[in-house]
Amino acid sequence: MTDFIASNAGLTDPLGTGAITPEFPEGFLWGTATASHQVEGGNVGNDVWLYEHVTPTMYKESSGDACDHWNRYREDIELLASLGLNSYRFSLEWSRIEPAEGEFSAVAIEHYRDVLRACHEHGLTPIVTYHHFTSPQWLIARGGWEDEGTPELFARFATKVTEELGELFDIACTMNEPNLAILLAELGLAETDPADRVKNPTWVGAGEALGIPAEKVAGFQLTATEKSFEIKVAAHKDAVAAIKAVKPSMKVGWTLANSDFHAAPGGEGRTAAMVEKNNLRYLRVAEGDDFVGIQVYNRTVLGADGPVKPAEDATVNPQGEEIWPWAVGAVVRQAWDTVKVPIIVTENGLNTEDDSQRVEFLRRATTEVGRCVADGIPVQGYMCWSAMDNFEWIFGYGPKFGIIAVDRETQERTPKESAHVLGEIARTNGAVLR
Ligand code: BGC
Repeated sequence: MTDFIASNAGLTDPLGTGAITPEFPEGFLWGTATASHQVEGGNVGNDVWLYEHVTPTMYKESSGDACDHWNRYREDIELLASLGLNSYRFSLEWSRIEPAEGEFSAVAIEHYRDVLRACHEHGLTPIVTYHHFTSPQWLIARGGWEDEGTPELFARFATKVTEELGELFDIACTMNEPNLAILLAELGLAETDPADRVKNPTWVGAGEALGIPAEKVAGFQLTATEKSFEIKVAAHKDAVAAIKAVKPSMKVGWTLANSDFHAAPGGEGRTAAMVEKNNLRYLRVAEGDDFVGIQVYNRTVLGADGPVKPAEDATVNPQGEEIWPWAVGAVVRQAWDTVKVPIIVTENGLNTEDDSQRVEFLRRATTEVGRCVADGIPVQGYMCWSAMDNFEWIFGYGPKFGIIAVDRETQERTPKESAHVLGEIARTNGAVLR
């Protein structure tokens, strides 16, 4: 198992791409990304809050107050800008903006207006994600991401938000990682058949709370059915049209969880199928969009029966997951070869408690992005996941993706070394990498 593929031992570049010097164009966007539910706290009206609170639940803990970004966004934005970054990607919480079907909250809209103002005051170009995994509970109760009515409701939300806030930003992501569930299903974490949901007590509990059968609990993140593929594609297309109808100059795209798939001997067929199912067909939907967001963390090595463990001499994070900073280059190149639209790396990062690993990762990953640019691929930005340690969905607060640490008792923020390194890369526009 150790010699089927290049090992990353000691993080020496197994791809031998060292010859090309990274380059970044003037105005390249350097930033971090967050998502509403993972940092804001108290998002009690969305489906994930419900899943966290049913008994038993697959969620390790409740999101609770998260990072209290709902109240602390101004200091967070100031801190990110002080590091040298020039962009910030964040998401709108649909369940706050439309807490009941058709009922919009002026207070929530005003909140996001001030988040956008704070970005501009501190020189951060905002990238706004309209949907990052969480949906209002009322949407799930009426069929969620397997219901034919959802694209229209999402488009109505997109129209409202763009009318209210659109003059304050120019880059919009309709939805985050519509394909993540496909990857999670391959790893055994999501259902491809709605009938299987009855076996998961979280969906059973959520169904009871919402008054629908467990088979009908179709949240965004863990729903890997073909029906949800169709609904998400339709919702993206309808939202693009809705946003453009209000603001034709808005740059609009969707963001994809595209892994760097490698085949172990015997896994060639499985790998080719996953490349098509998880990456290429979603990339093709971006045809005609203003950009596609690429989000990648690692490579996925597949054997005949599924994912294969890292080689014994592999460099891994404290959880034993292989560190593969070269994935971003491979996936950006694949995206460009598949659909010729500009690319923004809307998420890339590393889960580790050892920040020196993240420093090394960021240097290598951003170098890979710069090499893509040097090769003529129009990459326009790099957003590190994540601004701060946050609520990592079913894993709770365990994983550490942040460049800023957050004290869970006091909410005190402390930038890590990686925050300064990313800031330096941003301030020098990558010159420090050459
Ligand atoms: C998601 C984030 C998540 C991150 C790290 C991405 O799939 O967009 O919400 O926290 O990966 O797990």
